[in-house]
Amino acid sequence: MKSSCHPDLSVRIGKLRLKNPVIVASGTFGYGQEFDNFMDLNQLGAIIPKGISLNPMQGNPPPRIFETNGGVLNSIGLQNPGLQNFIKEKLPYLKKIKTTLIINFFGKTQQEYVELSKRLDDLPGISGLEMNISCPNVQQGGIIFGTDPRMTYRLVSRVRKSTQHPLIVKLSPNVTDIALMARSAEEGGADAVSLVNTFKALAINIQLKKPELGNIIGGLSGPAIKPIALRMVWEVFQAVKIPVIGMGGIMKAEDAIEFILAGACAIQIGTANLVNPKTGAEVIEGINQYLVQNKIKSIKHLIGVFTKEKGGMQRA
Ligand SMILES: Cc1cc2nc3c(=O)[nH]c(=O)nc-3n(C[C@H](O)[C@H](O)[C@H](O)COP(=O)(O)O)c2cc1C
Repeated sequence: MKSSCHPDLSVRIGKLRLKNPVIVASGTFGYGQEFDNFMDLNQLGAIIPKGISLNPMQGNPPPRIFETNGGVLNSIGLQNPGLQNFIKEKLPYLKKIKTTLIINFFGKTQQEYVELSKRLDDLPGISGLEMNISCPNVQQGGIIFGTDPRMTYRLVSRVRKSTQHPLIVKLSPNVTDIALMARSAEEGGADAVSLVNTFKALAINIQLKKPELGNIIGGLSGPAIKPIALRMVWEVFQAVKIPVIGMGGIMKAEDAIEFILAGACAIQIGTANLVNPKTGAEVIEGINQYLVQNKIKSIKHLIGVFTKEKGGMQRA
């Protein structure tokens, strides 16, 4: 058994074992290589590259990023090189990193989700899939599947049958009852849920009387959303039996620990990577220090402790 000087940071997400609970979030860490000057990427618990689709996508018209108080609005629109170019140009580098590689993917139709998950099944070097049903910045696909519980159930069931990989379903916060969406994903066969994606949002330039984003609407992320994301993780943890991966505004280790206490078995860092590219490494170190200072032998002893012991709720 490890001593409290070297706490055990490893976590399990279904069949997946991560060396620590810190994952870098899709769309905020490029394809890994962009960050290798800043930190040792092998330290990370897992990497989730930018979401991929079957065919290349151009994304939305510029401007596509706008800074707000305590957050960022983006309307990238899922720009990506498509599966074949990803395999040729991005995957070889990602496979060399000694960490868990989880592929984030999405489709415009149910058939595209199914097709993509089948093709990803045969690729060596991939440990799991994160299925994005929650992007607020695209017209088709994405969020449409993530805001209707029956559609979520149907889509997840179909994808479940077409892949052997551990399947994480990434939920949208743009719903009335996120726990209901999480249960639909669980019933459809998801191995885990991750939440939250960005919140649908708007910013207006008052001089030009025009939107700040080319797409008008974007997704809000960063510290501004943290308390809402944390509340959603807390609700979902109480609603499902499968593991919950938490994210939304995590900037430092203390934020990550809040999500873990609420019930997240792992956390993702998104917008913080754009502010400080070393955030992932710093959060791992900060969690380690917290465990040492509090004489906790394993991160597993922290997962959901707040919710289970002190702050659970009676759901109506
Ligand atoms: C610029 C940008 C691009 C993103 N692209 C994706 C994406 O391709 N797929 C996805 O599932 N989420 C994407 N996201 C959402 C993040 O992965 C994350 O869910 C969200 O930003 C909330 O976490 P944060 O507050 O730590 O950033 C993107 C976020 C940002 C800011």
